[in-house]
Amino acid sequence: MAAATIHAGLEILYTRDQISKRVAEMGEQISRDFVGQKVVLVGVLKGATIFLADLARCISLDATFDFLSTSSYGKGHQQSGEVRLLKDVDHSVEGQNIILVEDILDTGLTLSYLRRVLSAHQPRSLKIAALLDKPARRIQKIEGDYIGFTIPNKFVVGYGLDYAERYRNLPDICVIPPSALGDE
Ligand code: IMP
Ligand code: MG
Repeated sequence: MAAATIHAGLEILYTRDQISKRVAEMGEQISRDFVGQKVVLVGVLKGATIFLADLARCISLDATFDFLSTSSYGKGHQQSGEVRLLKDVDHSVEGQNIILVEDILDTGLTLSYLRRVLSAHQPRSLKIAALLDKPARRIQKIEGDYIGFTIPNKFVVGYGLDYAERYRNLPDICVIPPSALGDE
């Protein structure tokens, strides 16, 4: 793919068309795996919102939404290592097929923590759908059940992913050059 720049200095890693095609495939896979069953899509705020909205429309099952929120990187891109629950799900997950929807599986700390929190409430099943996977950064051993793209160790923004809350609305997934990342 030819490198293109938008928003001064950002290079596109996946275009909106590539994302849309892959998200459709993920939705079809989930629909096949849970045929005849209900699912609850539990999104991790705020990064997963755009992915969840698109994925949900590619899932041909009886589906409901819920949202969780955890403490984040702060303003920048550094992971402190500590994860805290800022907002729990609104409805009980007991006996439900939960699909935890996240933008990116990075160190794995967030999803390992959330998986523990949700498992304690005894769902019928618990799967992880992450649009991106950055295995090079993993600290906690965890794998996604549905992964959109496995990416190199680069900081990416767009399609819900932010840097200091910016760029979530970019339709493509773009790389921020390391020189533009502060050490916050
Ligand atoms: P974890 O390191 O796997 O716990 O991921 C925690 C959170 O860090 C993710 O939910 C993302 O919001 C954020 N994150 C990790 N890598 C990136 C990135 O490359 N760009 C933007 N956000 C990221
Ligand atoms: Mg996030």
